[in-house]
Amino acid sequence: MSTNEEIIGRADLNDLEAILSVSAADQDDAIRAVKDNADAIFTWDYEKGSRPALNKLYEKAKVSMWNGETDLPWDTEVDQEQVARDNMALGSFGDIDLTHTPFANWGDDEWMNLGMEFQNWSLSQFMHGEQGALICTAKIVETVPWIDAKYYASTQVMDEARHVEVFAKYLDTKLNGHYPLNAHLGLLLDDIIEDSRWDMTYLGMQIMVEGLALAAFGFMHQMTTEPLLKKLLRYVMSDEARHVAFGVLSLKEYYAELTDAEMLERQEFAFEAAVRMRDRFMQQEVWERMGLKPKEVLPLLIDNPNRLLFQQMLFTKIVPNCKKLGLLDRNDGWLRHRFEELGVIEFEHLTDTSDEYQAFALGEQELSESAASLGA
Ligand SMILES: [Fe+2]
Ligand SMILES: [Fe+2]
Repeated sequence: MSTNEEIIGRADLNDLEAILSVSAADQDDAIRAVKDNADAIFTWDYEKGSRPALNKLYEKAKVSMWNGETDLPWDTEVDQEQVARDNMALGSFGDIDLTHTPFANWGDDEWMNLGMEFQNWSLSQFMHGEQGALICTAKIVETVPWIDAKYYASTQVMDEARHVEVFAKYLDTKLNGHYPLNAHLGLLLDDIIEDSRWDMTYLGMQIMVEGLALAAFGFMHQMTTEPLLKKLLRYVMSDEARHVAFGVLSLKEYYAELTDAEMLERQEFAFEAAVRMRDRFMQQEVWERMGLKPKEVLPLLIDNPNRLLFQQMLFTKIVPNCKKLGLLDRNDGWLRHRFEELGVIEFEHLTDTSDEYQAFALGEQELSESAASLGA
């Protein structure tokens, strides 16, 4: 059994020095190369529908495509300050006394700037995460041995291209300023891509990264009053719910056959992913850009009740899905105990995402609007 040191590189989850020591090194390079250590697998079993749940998802995906250029109201005038204001609660410190902190002399302008930076940073990380999903899902097309899964994954590749496209367009034309890939998210994406086992791509991407994204998009969708962003998120979520279902349905079959030792490796990987994603939300790059020292800000964040609530909310999809896959309870509840330490175990009883995609699907009204906009 591995130690925290071996899994996440530090013994204490809240070791701020260690969290801050991970920073983006290659942000000035135009590309990032990651070794993809996997075999491309051909299958000669072409029987479509031998995995009915995946086949159903594939058929659903075929008729749920939308067009990022024509289905979203790009002519909307976006008031960046309003977008920031909608999310302000997240950047605030609630009732925490800020005298003797770097925020002691902050006025409305600084808080507004922080809100706008936070918005740019969040959407930038989503954009980079979407590119990670694009690459991981293309890898799944190559590595998964089942034809129904290859078919479905191919539709997800198209979905992810559309997601990268719309987030990039929103950042470029409606906000001002990208952020580079957050180093903690980068570590996680590297680990997922480098792993040679096909199920690890699913676990890292479909269950952990996309599970978090689905919750985060839902939260932002609820908070924002900006109509273009709201619609963009609504459309992306309708796809993401299918993607998470793809992960749950595929891994449920595979994990039922694994030994305890093999399951422990998956549990440790899920824990590592959870910690990397939590560390990412310390948003150290934002503090640096605001001229603050992250070392002075992070201690305030660690105990900030607003941030803790937000952090917990990010796990509302991940925890029930891990439970459904048997990851929480195998090996004497190894992952259950880790999720208890992270303060997120309470979500284990929420609905898992294996068929929740039906509830997230775009309604007939929305799809017919899409069809009309395409001239159909
Ligand atoms: Fe996506
Ligand atoms: Fe996705």
